[in-house]
Amino acid sequence: MHNVNNYLESCNEKLQNDEMDIEAALIKARSVLKSYSNPTNVIDFDVRGELYALALKLAPKARSEELYLVLDLLKPIIGEVGVDLAAGTGYLSRALVKNTNSLLYAVDLSKKQLSELSSSNKEIKTISLSPDSPNLRSYIAESSVDFFTSIGGLHHVDSHKLMFENISLLLKSGGRFVAADVCSNTNLSRHFDDVVSTKCITGHSANWLSCEKLQGLANDTNLSLESCQMVNIKWHFNSELEMALFFKALHAYDIPLSEILVDLSDQLGYLVYQDSVVLNWPLMVFKIIKG
Ligand SMILES: C[S@@+](CC[C@H](N)C(=O)[O-])C[C@H]1O[C@@H](n2cnc3c(N)ncnc32)[C@H](O)[C@@H]1O
Repeated sequence: MHNVNNYLESCNEKLQNDEMDIEAALIKARSVLKSYSNPTNVIDFDVRGELYALALKLAPKARSEELYLVLDLLKPIIGEVGVDLAAGTGYLSRALVKNTNSLLYAVDLSKKQLSELSSSNKEIKTISLSPDSPNLRSYIAESSVDFFTSIGGLHHVDSHKLMFENISLLLKSGGRFVAADVCSNTNLSRHFDDVVSTKCITGHSANWLSCEKLQGLANDTNLSLESCQMVNIKWHFNSELEMALFFKALHAYDIPLSEILVDLSDQLGYLVYQDSVVLNWPLMVFKIIKG
């Protein structure tokens, strides 16, 4: 019993320290935002970079179901050249290079989110561009890529048509594009549109995809949609407090932790067990092939 109490005390102390780090990063983020009269998308994501990294440090295993879902469908192998779109702080990129031990391009609009990624991994080359930018072709050679992939970021791309044109050109014949993202008209897209867009300090705008849209985009760029489905992904936490702090950092919320929990419960639903919390996080997962 004594050991159990010591363990719980050390967990609470860790969460208190994490909360202080998150509050300090939020204050910094708000003051940087204030210094811009009209912050662009890049500034918004730069400002959220530190908070995003704090969230992933707080609960590094929370999102492992979606990570393994993408890795299982993609099946990256040694020597393959890949591209992680909207790579952020490198949650998927780092796992990819462990499988390929080869060149991986991490593409994200925000330099701040990408910082540290290339310096800590010799295989990773960062490119601060949007996946729909024609300039991507000056960094990556035509027909040189084995796979494109992404988790949770394609909805930020303005022109999915231009992004698909890039992917079609840069993929090798037989190459694949496997990704997971929020799908339009689901509880999760409604959560982002109703809650994240109004409560995140930078707001949140989205260009949601769906399996139907992906089918059209693939048809128009000579790619084949091999599979597309909704998967009831769960995010896992040690406690409600840990989950609330994770979202405070991930979505840059300057609101009470209790309000974060009510929003998650009302729109997505979560179950509280004796020593864990499991949150519904439904995602669309797809695989596209270049024939
Ligand atoms: C929800 S995060 C996902 C990050 C990462 N894939 C992960 O799973 O942790 C979304 C990312 O999209 C990036 N982003 C936003 N707009 C973008 C754009 N137009 N092009 C590329 N990346 C963009 C942001 O900087 C952020 O890193």
